[in-house]
Amino acid sequence: MASRRSLKWLKNKVEAMRSFGGSLLGYVGLPLEAKGNVLKLDSNENFFVDADFLRRVFVEALSDVDLRLYSPGVMAELKEALGRYIGVSGDCVCVGSGAEHLIDFIVQSFLSVGDEVVTVVPGFFMYGKRVSLCGAKVVEVPLRSDLSLDVDGILARCTPRTRLVFVCSPNNPTGNEFGWDEVEALADECSALIVVDEAYAEFGEVSVCRKAVEKENVVVVRTFSKAFGLAGLRFGYLVVNEWLASGLSEVIPYTVGTVVARFVERLLDKRDVIEGLVREVKKGAGKADKGAALNQKR
Ligand SMILES: Cc1ncc(COP(=O)(O)O)c(C=O)c1O
Repeated sequence: MASRRSLKWLKNKVEAMRSFGGSLLGYVGLPLEAKGNVLKLDSNENFFVDADFLRRVFVEALSDVDLRLYSPGVMAELKEALGRYIGVSGDCVCVGSGAEHLIDFIVQSFLSVGDEVVTVVPGFFMYGKRVSLCGAKVVEVPLRSDLSLDVDGILARCTPRTRLVFVCSPNNPTGNEFGWDEVEALADECSALIVVDEAYAEFGEVSVCRKAVEKENVVVVRTFSKAFGLAGLRFGYLVVNEWLASGLSEVIPYTVGTVVARFVERLLDKRDVIEGLVREVKKGAGKADKGAALNQKR
């Protein structure tokens, strides 16, 4: 008897995943680390942080944990430590395996087929890809010609089906920042959740985290992949009001390992090392900006 089974839906889904093209799998076999005088820069990994320093802190953390246990207490202490770092309550922090994992989690938690999401272009390409996979519609709004955020343009494209608005600050790839005024205007005027990706916040001047926890509909995504030089560790966190954080934390209670949690806590204790390196990078970026400005004048 012919099978009545149809796996077309599954095939379509997997094909959509395979066409994703956003992973780094294509790099397998290529040199991933700085070699000689060649620097691999396209993934914004941070070669300034000393790998041995990170390894030492990790080994210290490893000797501090009992891997047999789930250890909710360790997660609570980690959230407290991150809260102190950001200047918010630990109850406003959720942790996960990197910013992309958390972005995916937000997408899965809040989007249904037919919903709409606004992204800003040029911006981090990953948001749109994740959104499309779950059957929601991506609406792209360009930055203004001076690279500022077109708040009115975004609001004009929001509809009652808009669930998420993604803003990246400092923006990848333009590098400029958007402040609380813009984010608040979006949060107040549209009924979507405003997702502010602050992956590069340590290299910028402003963060909206402290204000975000006072709003119902703003969530900030942060990562240890950039300033802390830990792209391989996979650690990120969300900063959000307590109400939303409690809901999200119920769904993702054990998203990072105990060793990772203890390691991150120890690194936060030694963050003067990282802050020093960030200052050096910013000085270098300042010089590069001046150089670019001079070149433009020529
Ligand atoms: C703007 C932005 N957000 C998020 C990420 C991903 O960060 P993570 O390594 O924590 O997943 C990147 C990585 O390049 C990025 O540029």
